[in-house]
Amino acid sequence: MARATSVHVCSECGHETPRWAGQCPGCRAWNTLVEEARAAPGPAAGGRRGAGGGKALAPVALGDVKAEAVARLSTGVGELDRVLGGGVVPGSLVLIGGSPGIGKSTLTTMALANLVAAGRRTLYVSAEESAAQIKLRAERLGAAAHALRIPTIAETDLAAVLATLERERPEVCVVDSVQTLHSAALSGAPGSVGQVREVAGEIMRVAKQHGIAVLLVGHVTKEGALAGPRVLEHLVDCVLQFEGERERTYRTLRALKNRFGSTSEAGVFEMRSDGLVEVLDASARFVGEATRAPGSVVLAAMEGSRPLLVEVQALVSASDLEIPRRVVSGIDRNRLALVLAVLARHGGVGVGTSDVFVNVVGGVRVDEPGADLAVALAVASAARGVALTDAPDDPPLACFGELGLTGELRTVAHAERRVAEARKFGLATIVSPEAGTLRAALRALRVRERAREGQPAVAAL
Ligand code: TYD
Ligand code: MG
Repeated sequence: MARATSVHVCSECGHETPRWAGQCPGCRAWNTLVEEARAAPGPAAGGRRGAGGGKALAPVALGDVKAEAVARLSTGVGELDRVLGGGVVPGSLVLIGGSPGIGKSTLTTMALANLVAAGRRTLYVSAEESAAQIKLRAERLGAAAHALRIPTIAETDLAAVLATLERERPEVCVVDSVQTLHSAALSGAPGSVGQVREVAGEIMRVAKQHGIAVLLVGHVTKEGALAGPRVLEHLVDCVLQFEGERERTYRTLRALKNRFGSTSEAGVFEMRSDGLVEVLDASARFVGEATRAPGSVVLAAMEGSRPLLVEVQALVSASDLEIPRRVVSGIDRNRLALVLAVLARHGGVGVGTSDVFVNVVGGVRVDEPGADLAVALAVASAARGVALTDAPDDPPLACFGELGLTGELRTVAHAERRVAEARKFGLATIVSPEAGTLRAALRALRVRERAREGQPAVAAL
């Protein structure tokens, strides 16, 4: 009975077939057939296009459209509110993606607990865990008393969840997770592209109808693959990505898409035994922990609109492989390749036959060109075995800047704020794009190298 209402549609050519096949009979592409619910004939289907049955509408000038300023609902988690653009917009659909174990359930439970404490109607739909498991998690969180008052259902059947939403009409609802709910209208397994789309679409329909804000949790693998939240990005109002490494304590929350706010915001959290804690003094911690050893430098980065100081470390060691290793964590691998090429060509530091490892300490990810100079200085310092600071108790060297292909340093956004942040934490030596070229930026390193070799340092200047 369920099967009669679904059809398999090729995502390449749109060919429809009643049964699934590995290869599309239309365009012969492999693995492109996705199950979709066949809209029931009647009002829901809205008639076929071009049938002429539609009612003509009168267009209005945008100036005449009334857009009331909606009061946002604060989740009580400052970093989450900031990334959302000031809180949850009533009736919006927010997708929170992240790899398993990163803390999505913890974050959403904390948000709901605060909303309950503020007197909001909430609902926690868990298709992954039993109510008892959710209770155990809630007990670990600081605001345990409030977390325990979150109305919760553990259910995997989409129809039951929709019926509950219709009856309870919460103001904010968490659905954990979109991949584990199952629609009986489709035969595919939970988590398949068709199912995920159907589940999200149906929840959105009910949520928009009743003005329910929904936080939809979705698992993504490291590559962002898996029949997953990616297929929903166009549908939802806001996509948040929760990232970091499970074994490390720091996690960042970023907005990849936000219809109601900026996408440049990011929040930093730390996973503790009693829940996620917002890290507001991340710079102080990273600077305090910076090693100042050869291969270490502090990058004045931007996390959204906030400056953040992070330590970048590099290790260069002789390789026994024909193709030496290039291992990165926290930066883009291709960017490292570019930096190494510029270093060799314009900085006189070649690491062609060595393994190179680069790590942004604390599990932080920096996805900005401003990190180039830090990577270059860390690798050069590691390759030469010379620290970038004079004495071990000197404040670390701070830097930022993009590397051009001709060895020039290019300006990056928010230079003053980066410098101000570095100064605030006592980092007096700051190498910025004002140095002009990579060669000039490396000069400090050369001075020290010569001094170490017993030559007077001044000879290098
Ligand atoms: P969880 O929120 O369940 O992750 P997700 O829903 O993204 O899969 O929690 C992730 C991990 O965090 C889990 O291994 C347990 C740990 N954890 C803490 O360290 N402290 C806590 O207070 C809680 C609730 C979980
Ligand atoms: Mg979870």
